[in-house]
Amino acid sequence: MTVAWRQLSGDAKVYYDVVDHGVDLSAYGHQKRVTKRNRHLKLNTCFSHLDRLQPDTKYFFLIADGDSVSRRYYFKTAPAKPKDFTFIAGGDTKSSNQPSAYAHGRRSNRMVAKLRPLFVLFVGDFTSNSEKAERWVEWFNDWNEDTCSVDGRMYPIIPVHGNHENPNGLMDLKNLFDTPESVYYTIDFCGDFLRVFVLNTELSAKMMNVKISGMDQKWKAQTKWLKKTLKKSGHFQFRAAMYHKPLRPHTKGKHTPEQVYRDWAPLFAKYKLSLSFDGDSHMHKITYPLVPDPQGEDGFRRDDKCGTMYIGEGSWGASPRRADALRGWTMAHGSFNQFKLIHAKQDRFLIYTVMTDNEAEVGSLQEGQEFEFPQGIKLFDTPGKGIAIPYPFSE
Ligand SMILES: [Fe+2]
Repeated sequence: MTVAWRQLSGDAKVYYDVVDHGVDLSAYGHQKRVTKRNRHLKLNTCFSHLDRLQPDTKYFFLIADGDSVSRRYYFKTAPAKPKDFTFIAGGDTKSSNQPSAYAHGRRSNRMVAKLRPLFVLFVGDFTSNSEKAERWVEWFNDWNEDTCSVDGRMYPIIPVHGNHENPNGLMDLKNLFDTPESVYYTIDFCGDFLRVFVLNTELSAKMMNVKISGMDQKWKAQTKWLKKTLKKSGHFQFRAAMYHKPLRPHTKGKHTPEQVYRDWAPLFAKYKLSLSFDGDSHMHKITYPLVPDPQGEDGFRRDDKCGTMYIGEGSWGASPRRADALRGWTMAHGSFNQFKLIHAKQDRFLIYTVMTDNEAEVGSLQEGQEFEFPQGIKLFDTPGKGIAIPYPFSE
Protein backbone atom coordinates (compact mmCIF):
# COMPACT_ATOMS: atom_id res chain seq x y z
CA MET A 1 0.00 0.00 0.00
CA THR A 2 1.31 3.44 -0.85
CA VAL A 3 0.40 6.16 1.65
CA ALA A 4 0.70 9.65 0.16
CA TRP A 5 0.44 13.05 1.78
CA ARG A 6 1.59 16.65 1.53
CA GLN A 7 4.17 17.53 4.19
CA LEU A 8 4.08 21.24 5.09
CA SER A 9 7.31 21.26 7.13
CA GLY A 10 9.64 18.87 8.92
CA ASP A 11 9.58 15.15 8.44
CA ALA A 12 6.91 12.57 9.16
CA LYS A 13 6.48 8.82 9.56
CA VAL A 14 3.60 6.42 9.07
CA TYR A 15 2.73 4.38 12.16
CA TYR A 16 0.68 1.25 11.44
CA ASP A 17 -0.57 -1.97 12.93
CA VAL A 18 -3.26 -4.63 12.54
CA VAL A 19 -4.51 -3.57 15.98
CA ASP A 20 -6.24 -0.22 16.46
CA HIS A 21 -4.22 1.87 18.93
CA GLY A 22 -6.10 5.10 18.26
CA VAL A 23 -3.69 8.06 18.37
CA ASP A 24 -1.28 6.36 20.79
CA LEU A 25 1.81 6.52 18.56
CA SER A 26 4.06 4.46 20.80
CA ALA A 27 1.67 1.50 20.76
CA TYR A 28 1.86 0.94 16.98
CA GLY A 29 4.00 -2.09 16.12
CA HIS A 30 5.38 -0.74 12.81
CA GLN A 31 6.62 2.57 11.52
CA LYS A 32 7.86 3.60 8.12
CA ARG A 33 9.76 6.70 7.03
CA VAL A 34 9.12 8.60 3.82
CA THR A 35 10.38 6.35 1.03
CA LYS A 36 10.01 8.90 -1.79
CA ARG A 37 9.26 12.61 -2.03
CA ASN A 38 9.12 15.31 -4.72
CA ARG A 39 8.57 19.06 -5.13
CA HIS A 40 6.27 18.81 -8.16
CA LEU A 41 4.10 22.00 -8.20
CA LYS A 42 5.94 22.88 -4.94
CA LEU A 43 3.61 20.56 -3.03
CA ASN A 44 6.26 18.49 -1.19
CA THR A 45 4.39 15.24 -1.78
CA CYS A 46 5.59 12.35 0.38
CA PHE A 47 5.10 8.63 -0.13
CA SER A 48 5.57 5.79 2.25
CA HIS A 49 5.41 2.29 0.77
CA LEU A 50 4.11 -0.22 3.27
CA ASP A 51 5.16 -3.70 2.21
CA ARG A 52 4.93 -7.26 3.48
CA LEU A 53 1.32 -6.61 4.48
CA GLN A 54 -1.02 -9.49 5.23
CA PRO A 55 -3.81 -10.04 2.71
CA ASP A 56 -7.47 -9.40 3.54
CA THR A 57 -6.52 -7.49 6.69
CA LYS A 58 -7.37 -4.13 8.25
CA TYR A 59 -4.38 -1.87 8.87
CA PHE A 60 -4.82 1.05 11.24
CA PHE A 61 -2.44 3.94 10.67
CA LEU A 62 -1.62 7.54 11.33
CA ILE A 63 0.94 10.00 10.07
CA ALA A 64 2.90 12.00 12.61
CA ASP A 65 5.69 14.56 12.61
CA GLY A 66 7.25 16.55 15.46
CA ASP A 67 4.34 18.99 15.55
CA SER A 68 1.21 16.98 14.98
CA VAL A 69 -0.51 13.64 14.62
CA SER A 70 -3.11 12.91 11.92
CA ARG A 71 -6.49 11.40 12.48
CA ARG A 72 -6.38 7.59 12.90
CA TYR A 73 -7.25 6.04 9.55
CA TYR A 74 -7.44 2.48 8.33
CA PHE A 75 -7.43 0.61 5.03
CA LYS A 76 -8.08 -2.98 4.07
CA THR A 77 -5.70 -5.06 1.98
CA ALA A 78 -7.05 -7.21 -0.86
CA PRO A 79 -7.51 -10.96 -0.38
CA ALA A 80 -4.77 -13.14 -1.88
CA LYS A 81 -7.24 -15.82 -2.95
CA PRO A 82 -10.58 -15.56 -4.76
CA LYS A 83 -13.14 -14.01 -2.41
CA ASP A 84 -16.13 -11.76 -3.14
CA PHE A 85 -15.45 -8.03 -3.01
CA THR A 86 -16.87 -4.75 -4.34
CA PHE A 87 -15.24 -1.86 -6.14
CA ILE A 88 -16.18 1.48 -7.68
CA ALA A 89 -15.24 2.76 -11.15
CA GLY A 90 -15.77 6.28 -12.47
CA GLY A 91 -14.06 9.54 -13.23
CA ASP A 92 -14.17 13.19 -14.33
CA THR A 93 -14.35 15.73 -11.53
CA LYS A 94 -14.13 19.51 -11.77
CA SER A 95 -12.71 22.21 -9.53
CA SER A 96 -14.49 24.88 -7.50
CA ASN A 97 -14.33 27.39 -10.39
CA GLN A 98 -17.14 25.25 -11.86
CA PRO A 99 -19.41 25.28 -8.78
CA SER A 100 -22.22 22.99 -9.96
CA ALA A 101 -19.96 20.22 -11.33
CA TYR A 102 -17.71 20.60 -8.28
CA ALA A 103 -20.63 20.10 -5.89
CA HIS A 104 -21.80 17.03 -7.83
CA GLY A 105 -18.30 15.56 -7.61
CA ARG A 106 -18.27 15.93 -3.84
CA ARG A 107 -21.61 14.13 -3.64
CA SER A 108 -20.12 11.20 -5.56
CA ASN A 109 -17.07 11.33 -3.27
CA ARG A 110 -19.28 11.04 -0.20
CA MET A 111 -21.09 8.08 -1.74
CA VAL A 112 -17.75 6.19 -1.75
CA ALA A 113 -17.57 6.57 2.04
CA LYS A 114 -21.11 5.18 2.32
CA LEU A 115 -20.54 2.12 0.08
CA ARG A 116 -17.19 0.87 1.47
CA PRO A 117 -15.60 -0.57 -1.70
CA LEU A 118 -12.29 -2.44 -1.59
CA PHE A 119 -10.85 0.19 -3.99
CA VAL A 120 -11.76 2.90 -6.52
CA LEU A 121 -10.77 2.89 -10.20
CA PHE A 122 -10.62 6.58 -11.17
CA VAL A 123 -10.53 6.97 -14.96
CA GLY A 124 -8.92 10.42 -15.16
CA ASP A 125 -9.69 14.16 -15.32
CA PHE A 126 -9.28 15.23 -11.71
CA THR A 127 -9.30 19.05 -11.90
CA SER A 128 -10.44 21.85 -14.19
CA ASN A 129 -6.90 23.33 -14.44
CA SER A 130 -4.24 20.89 -13.34
CA GLU A 131 -1.38 23.33 -13.98
CA LYS A 132 -2.48 25.16 -10.82
CA ALA A 133 -1.22 23.58 -7.60
CA GLU A 134 -4.22 24.88 -5.64
CA ARG A 135 -6.59 22.83 -7.79
CA TRP A 136 -4.75 19.66 -6.81
CA VAL A 137 -4.67 20.70 -3.15
CA GLU A 138 -8.43 21.18 -3.31
CA TRP A 139 -8.94 17.80 -5.01
CA PHE A 140 -6.85 15.92 -2.44
CA ASN A 141 -8.43 17.75 0.50
CA ASP A 142 -11.90 16.88 -0.79
CA TRP A 143 -10.97 13.27 -1.51
CA ASN A 144 -9.53 12.91 1.99
CA GLU A 145 -12.47 14.56 3.69
CA ASP A 146 -15.32 13.18 1.57
CA THR A 147 -14.40 9.58 0.73
CA CYS A 148 -13.17 8.62 4.19
CA SER A 149 -15.85 6.77 6.19
CA VAL A 150 -16.90 7.98 9.65
CA ASP A 151 -14.83 5.22 11.27
CA GLY A 152 -11.66 6.38 9.45
CA ARG A 153 -11.63 3.81 6.63
CA MET A 154 -9.87 5.07 3.48
CA TYR A 155 -10.22 3.53 0.03
CA PRO A 156 -7.22 2.94 -2.23
CA ILE A 157 -7.43 4.81 -5.53
CA ILE A 158 -6.08 3.41 -8.79
CA PRO A 159 -5.59 6.45 -11.05
CA VAL A 160 -5.73 6.87 -14.82
CA HIS A 161 -4.20 9.77 -16.76
CA GLY A 162 -6.91 11.96 -18.39
CA ASN A 163 -6.52 14.84 -20.84
CA HIS A 164 -6.80 17.33 -17.97
CA GLU A 165 -3.56 15.84 -16.65
CA ASN A 166 -1.70 16.72 -19.87
CA PRO A 167 -0.21 20.03 -18.64
CA ASN A 168 2.82 20.00 -16.29
CA GLY A 169 4.74 17.80 -18.74
CA LEU A 170 2.31 14.88 -18.23
CA MET A 171 4.00 14.30 -14.87
CA ASP A 172 1.14 14.87 -12.40
CA LEU A 173 0.22 11.25 -11.75
CA LYS A 174 3.79 10.06 -11.37
CA ASN A 175 4.49 12.80 -8.84
CA LEU A 176 1.18 12.96 -6.99
CA PHE A 177 0.17 9.27 -6.99
CA ASP A 178 3.55 7.57 -7.54
CA THR A 179 2.43 5.78 -10.72
CA PRO A 180 4.99 4.67 -13.32
CA GLU A 181 6.11 7.66 -15.43
CA SER A 182 4.07 6.90 -18.56
CA VAL A 183 1.07 5.91 -16.38
CA TYR A 184 0.42 2.42 -17.71
CA TYR A 185 0.68 -0.55 -15.40
CA THR A 186 -1.20 -3.61 -14.11
CA ILE A 187 -2.63 -4.41 -10.72
CA ASP A 188 -3.88 -7.85 -9.66
CA PHE A 189 -6.58 -8.86 -7.20
CA CYS A 190 -7.28 -12.08 -5.34
CA GLY A 191 -4.53 -14.25 -6.80
CA ASP A 192 -5.45 -15.24 -10.34
CA PHE A 193 -8.97 -13.80 -10.16
CA LEU A 194 -8.61 -10.37 -11.76
CA ARG A 195 -5.87 -8.37 -13.51
CA VAL A 196 -6.58 -4.68 -14.22
CA PHE A 197 -4.68 -3.00 -17.07
CA VAL A 198 -4.36 0.73 -16.41
CA LEU A 199 -3.78 2.39 -19.81
CA ASN A 200 -3.02 5.89 -21.04
CA THR A 201 -4.96 7.14 -24.08
CA GLU A 202 -3.16 10.50 -23.77
CA LEU A 203 0.13 9.04 -24.97
CA SER A 204 -1.26 9.29 -28.48
CA ALA A 205 -0.15 12.53 -30.11
CA LYS A 206 -2.93 11.96 -32.65
CA MET A 207 -5.44 12.03 -29.79
CA MET A 208 -4.07 15.24 -28.44
CA ASN A 209 -3.94 16.69 -31.93
CA VAL A 210 -0.49 18.10 -31.25
CA LYS A 211 3.06 17.41 -32.31
CA ILE A 212 5.17 16.31 -29.36
CA SER A 213 8.53 14.74 -30.04
CA GLY A 214 8.81 11.13 -28.94
CA MET A 215 5.05 10.64 -28.52
CA ASP A 216 4.78 8.14 -31.38
CA GLN A 217 7.46 5.99 -29.76
CA LYS A 218 5.70 6.23 -26.39
CA TRP A 219 2.41 5.18 -27.96
CA LYS A 220 4.02 2.25 -29.75
CA ALA A 221 5.86 1.18 -26.60
CA GLN A 222 2.61 1.15 -24.64
CA THR A 223 0.79 -0.94 -27.27
CA LYS A 224 3.73 -3.37 -27.41
CA TRP A 225 3.67 -3.66 -23.61
CA LEU A 226 -0.12 -4.16 -23.66
CA LYS A 227 0.15 -7.00 -26.18
CA LYS A 228 3.01 -8.70 -24.34
CA THR A 229 1.32 -8.39 -20.95
CA LEU A 230 -2.12 -9.51 -22.17
CA LYS A 231 -0.45 -12.55 -23.73
CA LYS A 232 1.02 -13.46 -20.35
CA SER A 233 -2.28 -12.91 -18.50
CA GLY A 234 -4.27 -15.87 -19.82
CA HIS A 235 -4.26 -17.56 -16.41
CA PHE A 236 -6.39 -14.80 -14.86
CA GLN A 237 -10.06 -15.68 -14.64
CA PHE A 238 -10.95 -12.12 -15.67
CA ARG A 239 -9.04 -9.24 -17.29
CA ALA A 240 -10.19 -5.61 -17.17
CA ALA A 241 -8.83 -2.38 -18.64
CA MET A 242 -9.28 1.22 -17.63
CA TYR A 243 -8.33 4.35 -19.56
CA HIS A 244 -9.71 7.83 -20.16
CA LYS A 245 -11.04 8.29 -23.71
CA PRO A 246 -13.73 5.87 -24.92
CA LEU A 247 -13.08 4.05 -28.21
CA ARG A 248 -16.64 4.99 -29.20
CA PRO A 249 -17.96 8.00 -27.24
CA HIS A 250 -21.72 7.98 -26.66
CA THR A 251 -22.18 11.72 -27.00
CA LYS A 252 -22.04 13.56 -30.31
CA GLY A 253 -19.21 16.02 -30.82
CA LYS A 254 -16.61 13.93 -28.97
CA HIS A 255 -13.71 12.86 -31.11
CA THR A 256 -13.51 9.13 -31.92
CA PRO A 257 -9.92 7.99 -31.30
CA GLU A 258 -9.31 5.77 -34.32
CA GLN A 259 -5.69 5.08 -33.42
CA VAL A 260 -6.72 3.73 -30.02
CA TYR A 261 -9.48 1.61 -31.58
CA ARG A 262 -7.16 0.25 -34.26
CA ASP A 263 -4.31 -0.61 -31.87
CA TRP A 264 -6.17 -1.79 -28.78
CA ALA A 265 -9.58 -3.23 -29.76
CA PRO A 266 -8.09 -6.25 -31.63
CA LEU A 267 -5.88 -7.00 -28.59
CA PHE A 268 -8.84 -6.73 -26.21
CA ALA A 269 -10.71 -9.26 -28.38
CA LYS A 270 -7.78 -11.62 -29.01
CA TYR A 271 -6.91 -11.89 -25.32
CA LYS A 272 -10.53 -11.88 -24.08
CA LEU A 273 -10.68 -8.71 -22.05
CA SER A 274 -13.79 -8.98 -19.87
CA LEU A 275 -14.51 -5.40 -18.83
CA SER A 276 -13.32 -2.00 -20.02
CA PHE A 277 -13.82 1.22 -18.03
CA ASP A 278 -13.58 4.66 -19.67
CA GLY A 279 -14.57 8.27 -18.97
CA ASP A 280 -14.25 11.70 -20.59
CA SER A 281 -17.71 12.12 -22.18
CA HIS A 282 -19.62 12.87 -18.94
CA MET A 283 -22.54 10.45 -19.23
CA HIS A 284 -23.56 6.85 -18.54
CA LYS A 285 -23.19 3.92 -20.92
CA ILE A 286 -22.82 0.15 -20.81
CA THR A 287 -22.48 -1.83 -24.03
CA TYR A 288 -23.25 -5.45 -24.77
CA PRO A 289 -20.05 -7.56 -24.98
CA LEU A 290 -18.34 -6.43 -28.20
CA VAL A 291 -15.61 -7.53 -30.58
CA PRO A 292 -14.18 -5.29 -33.31
CA ASP A 293 -15.59 -5.98 -36.77
CA PRO A 294 -15.09 -3.67 -39.77
CA GLN A 295 -18.50 -4.79 -41.07
CA GLY A 296 -20.23 -4.13 -37.74
CA GLU A 297 -21.93 -0.92 -36.68
CA ASP A 298 -19.22 1.70 -36.13
CA GLY A 299 -16.54 -1.02 -36.12
CA PHE A 300 -18.01 -3.34 -33.49
CA ARG A 301 -20.36 -6.31 -33.33
CA ARG A 302 -22.07 -7.89 -30.37
CA ASP A 303 -20.57 -11.19 -29.15
CA ASP A 304 -22.00 -12.19 -25.78
CA LYS A 305 -19.61 -15.11 -25.40
CA CYS A 306 -16.23 -13.60 -26.33
CA GLY A 307 -16.72 -9.83 -26.28
CA THR A 308 -15.59 -7.04 -23.95
CA MET A 309 -18.24 -5.06 -22.10
CA TYR A 310 -17.47 -1.31 -22.38
CA ILE A 311 -18.53 0.69 -19.32
CA GLY A 312 -18.37 4.47 -18.83
CA GLU A 313 -18.31 7.39 -19.50
CA GLY A 314 -17.24 9.62 -16.64
CA SER A 315 -19.79 11.85 -14.94
CA TRP A 316 -18.50 11.55 -11.35
CA GLY A 317 -18.92 15.32 -11.04
CA ALA A 318 -18.55 16.89 -14.49
CA SER A 319 -21.80 18.22 -15.96
CA PRO A 320 -23.57 15.43 -17.88
CA ARG A 321 -23.69 15.66 -21.65
CA ARG A 322 -26.50 14.23 -23.79
CA ALA A 323 -26.36 10.48 -24.48
CA ASP A 324 -27.09 11.00 -28.16
CA ALA A 325 -24.59 8.80 -30.01
CA LEU A 326 -26.23 5.42 -29.49
CA ARG A 327 -25.58 2.23 -31.45
CA GLY A 328 -27.49 -1.04 -31.77
CA TRP A 329 -24.96 -2.58 -29.37
CA THR A 330 -25.46 0.07 -26.66
CA MET A 331 -27.18 -1.69 -23.75
CA ALA A 332 -27.74 1.17 -21.31
CA HIS A 333 -27.28 4.93 -21.43
CA GLY A 334 -28.29 8.10 -19.66
CA SER A 335 -27.32 11.65 -18.87
CA PHE A 336 -26.74 12.13 -15.11
CA ASN A 337 -23.98 12.15 -12.49
CA GLN A 338 -22.95 8.59 -11.66
CA PHE A 339 -20.31 5.98 -11.06
CA LYS A 340 -20.34 2.20 -11.27
CA LEU A 341 -20.46 -0.08 -8.24
CA ILE A 342 -19.32 -3.58 -9.09
CA HIS A 343 -19.97 -6.67 -7.01
CA ALA A 344 -17.17 -9.10 -7.91
CA LYS A 345 -18.32 -12.63 -7.19
CA GLN A 346 -16.27 -15.80 -7.68
CA ASP A 347 -17.62 -16.46 -11.19
CA ARG A 348 -19.16 -13.15 -12.29
CA PHE A 349 -19.47 -9.40 -11.91
CA LEU A 350 -22.70 -7.54 -11.19
CA ILE A 351 -22.51 -3.96 -12.45
CA TYR A 352 -24.68 -1.30 -10.81
CA THR A 353 -24.92 2.34 -11.89
CA VAL A 354 -25.15 4.57 -8.82
CA MET A 355 -26.91 7.91 -9.48
CA THR A 356 -25.23 10.20 -7.01
CA ASP A 357 -27.44 13.34 -7.11
CA ASN A 358 -29.41 12.46 -3.98
CA GLU A 359 -26.35 11.48 -1.90
CA ALA A 360 -27.54 13.56 1.05
CA GLU A 361 -30.61 11.31 1.43
CA VAL A 362 -28.66 8.04 1.24
CA GLY A 363 -27.76 5.99 4.34
CA SER A 364 -24.38 4.37 5.04
CA LEU A 365 -23.29 0.75 4.98
CA GLN A 366 -21.40 -0.59 7.99
CA GLU A 367 -18.35 -2.86 7.82
CA GLY A 368 -19.43 -6.31 6.57
CA GLN A 369 -22.49 -4.95 4.72
CA GLU A 370 -20.66 -4.27 1.43
CA PHE A 371 -23.06 -6.40 -0.61
CA GLU A 372 -26.15 -4.63 0.72
CA PHE A 373 -27.55 -1.30 -0.48
CA PRO A 374 -27.98 1.71 1.80
CA GLN A 375 -31.41 3.20 2.28
CA GLY A 376 -32.37 5.78 -0.35
CA ILE A 377 -29.74 4.81 -2.94
CA LYS A 378 -30.78 5.41 -6.57
CA LEU A 379 -29.59 2.68 -8.94
CA PHE A 380 -30.18 3.11 -12.66
CA ASP A 381 -32.80 0.68 -13.93
CA THR A 382 -31.98 -0.41 -17.48
CA PRO A 383 -35.23 -1.11 -19.36
CA GLY A 384 -35.68 -4.86 -19.73
CA LYS A 385 -32.50 -5.60 -17.78
CA GLY A 386 -33.02 -4.23 -14.26
CA ILE A 387 -30.49 -2.65 -11.92
CA ALA A 388 -27.78 -5.35 -12.07
CA ILE A 389 -25.99 -5.96 -15.37
CA PRO A 390 -24.10 -9.26 -15.20
CA TYR A 391 -20.80 -10.18 -16.79
CA PRO A 392 -20.47 -12.85 -18.25
CA PHE A 393 -23.61 -11.65 -19.99
CA SER A 394 -26.62 -13.65 -21.12
CA GLU A 395 -30.18 -12.53 -21.82
FE1 LIG B 1 -11.44 14.19 -20.48
